[in-house]
Amino acid sequence: MHLPKWAVGIGSLLIVAGGYGLYALHRENQSLYQEVERVSHLIQERPVELATFMASYERFLTKLHQAGAAENWPLAAFYHEELEETAEQLERLAILDDGIPVSAMMRPNLIEPLEAVERAIQAKDAASFHKALQEVVVRCNGCHVAAGKPYIRFSIPTTDQPPRQLFSKKADI
Ligand code: HEC
Repeated sequence: MHLPKWAVGIGSLLIVAGGYGLYALHRENQSLYQEVERVSHLIQERPVELATFMASYERFLTKLHQAGAAENWPLAAFYHEELEETAEQLERLAILDDGIPVSAMMRPNLIEPLEAVERAIQAKDAASFHKALQEVVVRCNGCHVAAGKPYIRFSIPTTDQPPRQLFSKKADI
């Protein structure tokens, strides 16, 4: 077959362009691999990250309780949101900690019980607020048991006693 010169020209141009496209793809893959390698140590350091999350839960939970006890509802709404956002962030990270699907456990154990707290804040209902917050702490403790860490326990708050971590030994653990 005899092709006109212009067709040969376009044909080779296409081949060169295609070749360059593949090369660009290869380069992009390579830089993606490098990026994954650069950040993969973050994944190995996840346990540290998890404890950091928990430390903020403890802080936000205490402040949430205090704000509710003072019936300062805008402040309680602020800490409720901080707690909820941090919980959702941990959920999105899809963390498996020693085989425990910690992220998947966030919704039933923290995000859902926090919904009743939010409703109580919106209704400015102190009694429901305290009841809902007690349930949250029951779930915090429950999740620690489920995650094989039953020794991380919090006291169930009352209207004037904020939840606090219990350091005493418990007979059954
Ligand atoms: C999805 C399950 C889960 C939920 C819900 C949960 N935790 Fe934890 N928590 C863990 C796991 C797992 C660890 C151990 C982390 C590690 O191994 O570094 C932990 C560790 C902790 C620690 C020890 C780290 C520290 O800073 O001293 C505290 C405190 C803590 N959690 C508080 C809370 C509080 C308060 C709540 C509720 C508002 C809560 N956690 C809800 C799973 C959970």
